[in-house]
Amino acid sequence: MRLKGKVALITGAGTGIGQATALIFAEEGADVVAANLELPEAEETAEAIRKTGRRAVVIAADISKPEEIHAMVDRAINAFGGIDILVNNAGVGALNVPTFEIRDMEAWNKVFEINVAAAFLCCQRVGHWMRTHGGGKIVNVTSITGIAGVPYVNAYGPSKAAMINMTRSLAVEWAKYKINVNCVAPCWTRTRRLEKAIEKGVVSLAEIQKRCPMGRPAEPEDVAKAILFLASDDASFITGITLPVDGGWLAYGYQTV
Ligand SMILES: NC(=O)c1ccc[n+]([C@@H]2O[C@H](COP(=O)([O-])OP(=O)(O)OC[C@H]3O[C@@H](n4cnc5c(N)ncnc54)[C@H](O)[C@@H]3O)[C@@H](O)[C@H]2O)c1
Repeated sequence: MRLKGKVALITGAGTGIGQATALIFAEEGADVVAANLELPEAEETAEAIRKTGRRAVVIAADISKPEEIHAMVDRAINAFGGIDILVNNAGVGALNVPTFEIRDMEAWNKVFEINVAAAFLCCQRVGHWMRTHGGGKIVNVTSITGIAGVPYVNAYGPSKAAMINMTRSLAVEWAKYKINVNCVAPCWTRTRRLEKAIEKGVVSLAEIQKRCPMGRPAEPEDVAKAILFLASDDASFITGITLPVDGGWLAYGYQTV
């Protein structure tokens, strides 16, 4: 059991990567605070966690509102007496359109508000607690679009790149407090986000299979296992990194024959 006796706060824990992470954390011995925008989804995750014998509480929070982040973190700390692990998983992807067609800066700002500012505030609030209680582990869920240039995602990609640099900055600033801060960077992952994109015809599964050297999108569990590693004591001397979980996607340049 790699997280025995630990308490984890996971945002966006009701679906996809967040839900898979919550379940794998519980199987490894952690109690989990499952935060989510929609309460019923988080309840489903909590029910599955309790079946493993671990404790779970759910919190509904809209992390685009700083006051809801503060209340969420305070409630999480009160629930199980502290937070050892924070996973900033909640995120939004929008504006899948050519850059010249982006007119709605409100929507553009919203992507940054959730993917960057909210993650920053969660790190700050939880980091403050960790600093005064012997340290902890923070894992931020970014994306390979924050590393490679990808057309038509000119809000999401830059927001995920900002998350990567924020992670490095926090890692070096907080190393002295024994707070490790790292990122995982998934490629396309088989969650409802991908299913919806395929349904809308924005994304082709065949193209993903062709582009990814391992011939498939990631499964939520592939990403959850990498998050588990970075959240565990196995990664105690690792901080400030971004670990791609991409089946070789970023390693692959371009095949001309
Ligand atoms: N699925 C992919 O292909 C993929 C690829 C790379 C990175 N990611 C990243 O992984 C993370 C999880 O994505 P997923 O695919 O599991 O998607 P998802 O849509 O299943 O999960 C996103 C979660 O974010 C939460 N969320 C959104 N806005 C929120 C808000 N205002 N307040 C609180 N919570 C909010 C939702 O409740 C949801 O649970 C995201 O950060 C995403 O950017 C996903």
